[in-house]
Amino acid sequence: MVSLTRHIREQQRLSPEVVGDLSDMMTQIALGGKRIARDLCRTGLTDMIGTTGETNVQGEQVQKLDERANQIFVEVFEQSEIVRIVVSEEMAEPVVVPRAARSGSYAVFFDPLDGSSNIDVNAPLGSIFSIHRLDAAGHFLKEGGDQLAGGYLLYGPGTLLVYTCGDGVHQFTLDPRDNEFFLSIANVHVPACGAIYSVNEGNRSKWSADVRHVIDSFQEVDPKTGRLYTARYTGCLVADVHRILLKGGLYLYPGEVKKPEGKLRLMYEAAPLSFVVEQAGGIGSTGVERIASIQPKSPHQRVPLIIGSRDDVERVEQFLSGRCRQLDC
Ligand code: AHG
Ligand code: MN
Ligand code: MN
Repeated sequence: MVSLTRHIREQQRLSPEVVGDLSDMMTQIALGGKRIARDLCRTGLTDMIGTTGETNVQGEQVQKLDERANQIFVEVFEQSEIVRIVVSEEMAEPVVVPRAARSGSYAVFFDPLDGSSNIDVNAPLGSIFSIHRLDAAGHFLKEGGDQLAGGYLLYGPGTLLVYTCGDGVHQFTLDPRDNEFFLSIANVHVPACGAIYSVNEGNRSKWSADVRHVIDSFQEVDPKTGRLYTARYTGCLVADVHRILLKGGLYLYPGEVKKPEGKLRLMYEAAPLSFVVEQAGGIGSTGVERIASIQPKSPHQRVPLIIGSRDDVERVEQFLSGRCRQLDC
């Protein structure tokens, strides 16, 4: 049984100092995940269902569990002396951790609870994290390709932690008997192509003709290969992308005619998930450019996201970017 801390200690690619720091931060993230998983097990028995009455910086209603999960992650990062900047979906401004104001060398971006519409119905939820090293000037808004580590927790029937620090993707499972994460899949590889597509088709009337054409193509048998896709959508990005990571295919949250930037946030949704999927051999794209090379302009910026198996995403990218006028070339 390989524990999360032992696994990080054995990372060869990073300097010993960075390995120590990463191990410290991942221990805190795992601790946050354990606390959230424990709270989620009791929803319905506690006063944790429903909204707080507040609206967040995204203009979305804050659920009590969004706020609770945010508090948990802020607390665990405050306990670490090396995280200087904390950026969360639920906080309008980046927070400077007082204890680490001078010494901390890292910025952590996170979505404390992903898939909030699933809270009331006991469907899967997640938490997403992305870690960047601060440069000498203390800049923290960097492209996805600069991440030191990224990953997510998935709260389903079991609790999983999936992370990459640029040396493959590794899945850990929380063993409730020991309250400890143990390695359950080393070096996850996303199949080069798959037969699952994941998109909210209720948005169809808002899409461009090109996006509709792409989605329609999943519902037709491919004349060359005979492949017919099947649809899966939970409404939790982490759960939907995790399925694609293991089984292949693609997840799409495209831009809309009146909202070309789409819904998902670059720094704590698209970039860390793209880091994971690309480390597993897949692609994370907006449809016209790679997520990992986008220079961020603001902490809460949104981007369209098309992510998953290399061949499936490339086919859509080539069509949407205009490099190919036929979807099947
Ligand atoms: P969050 O709960 O962190 O605000 O994220 C919700 C995201 C993501 O989890 C999911 O894929 C997507 O929003 C679902 O949106 P729709 O309800 O528009 O499909
Ligand atoms: Mn989210
Ligand atoms: Mn969220």
